[in-house]
Amino acid sequence: MASAKYAVFLGCIVDTPVMGQLRVRTNGALGVDRSTGRIIGVAEQTELSSAELVSSWVGQIVHSEAIESISLTADQFLMPGLIDTHTHAPQFAFLGIGHDLPLMDWLNKYTFKHESEFKDADLARRFYKDVIARIVRNGVTFAAYYGTIHLESNRVLAQTIRQIGQRAYVGKVCMDANSPAYYSESTEDSLRDTEEFIRQVIGDDETQQRLVTPIVTPRFVPTCSHECLEGLGALAEKYQLPIQSHLCENPSEIEFAKSCFPDSPSYAHIYHKYGLLNSRTIMAHCVHLSDSEIALMRESKASVSHCPNSNFSLGSGIADIRRFIDEGIPVGLGTDVGGGYTPSILDAMRMAAAANRALIAFRRDSGGDQPARSSKDKPLEAAEALFLATQGGARVMGMDEQLGSLDTNKLFDAIVVDMNAPNSPVPSVDATPAVRDADSPDEAWRLRLEQFVFLADDRNISRVYVGGKLIHSV
Ligand code: GUN
Ligand code: FE
Repeated sequence: MASAKYAVFLGCIVDTPVMGQLRVRTNGALGVDRSTGRIIGVAEQTELSSAELVSSWVGQIVHSEAIESISLTADQFLMPGLIDTHTHAPQFAFLGIGHDLPLMDWLNKYTFKHESEFKDADLARRFYKDVIARIVRNGVTFAAYYGTIHLESNRVLAQTIRQIGQRAYVGKVCMDANSPAYYSESTEDSLRDTEEFIRQVIGDDETQQRLVTPIVTPRFVPTCSHECLEGLGALAEKYQLPIQSHLCENPSEIEFAKSCFPDSPSYAHIYHKYGLLNSRTIMAHCVHLSDSEIALMRESKASVSHCPNSNFSLGSGIADIRRFIDEGIPVGLGTDVGGGYTPSILDAMRMAAAANRALIAFRRDSGGDQPARSSKDKPLEAAEALFLATQGGARVMGMDEQLGSLDTNKLFDAIVVDMNAPNSPVPSVDATPAVRDADSPDEAWRLRLEQFVFLADDRNISRVYVGGKLIHSV
């Protein structure tokens, strides 16, 4: 049956195609064509059989032998896969360490040393398998990864992801300036290896359904020369690739970046000048953007990866994502492992909510020149956090028409959540009077999803699908 051409999921279907709007289809049915990995139709409260549904969706008679029906329990629901718009695969090697340090000290004391060890591609072979499996277990179907500066280890990372079946952007980190001697590269090597990596990753999978795409990755302005940034901008243009980097994370970093390019009006303008700030760009952090940088981000159609765990854990500050969203800048969530200490996007959702609440409280209490901005100072709701982790993340990755919600013709990247999994940190409905006695099923689901966002963890992620394929189950 697992090889049946079609799968039909029967049960509760949850997604949030629009920021703030939770869509719950109880008694839903969702069909997938496994050969294309796409959703062929979604129905609600239907009396039709799976075969009748699939036949109506594909426009021809399909017999039940060609269909696997998958019934969810009353405690389970199907939702879009979680999207991590910013993480560093090698940094799992020192997870949870150094969170008393600010960014630049943390980089110098732990990050560069651990990353430099990936000069040994055998380490990458041993290490990355467990890293990717762990991320997938957390329900992440699509992630934007930083590797290291090393060509071979990055290829291992890309191959490992492809073998496990996750969707990903993978970047060869570039750093040819102001970097320790044991972990730096010449400008020439940086650009040559980046292009070679791009060719390898594209060449390793030339099918239409490619899961892993290279992403142009200047580490950040302080570790990249003019020539390096210029060359990377040209490569991004030549291959029309996505771009990722760090921007305005920490005050010392910002000073450092500006000192490297004293003629630039701002940190963000440096990336812009070299063709690295456009609609395919994901900028992590953006905690301390100036007004003119926010305007430049908006005009350039660049996106923000909001990494609240990292921003708390390295004391970087709080990004005002409500403002970015109001100004039309796409925002998604990032774990930023190991600046953040967990690969959980559920954690990123609640950290985003906490960051937003802290910012509002700070504005309220600091008075004077920081007045509460009433309508804009609205706490981040669970449904909004869920949007950032799914459809919002898809937009940041430039794939919002293909992913992010459970709609017909989209790719089926999805997870089955079990709120009653063994050892679940979410209490049962019976033990939650507010849910059990809710006035309506809609209200009960709204509250249940708040519990999912604030309480659930990888134990509640029982199945993970990417492009219609089951890549993890418990
Ligand atoms: N800025 C430059 N490199 C890094 C990194 O590895 N992590 C974080 N959080 N910020 C950075
Ligand atoms: Fe980062």
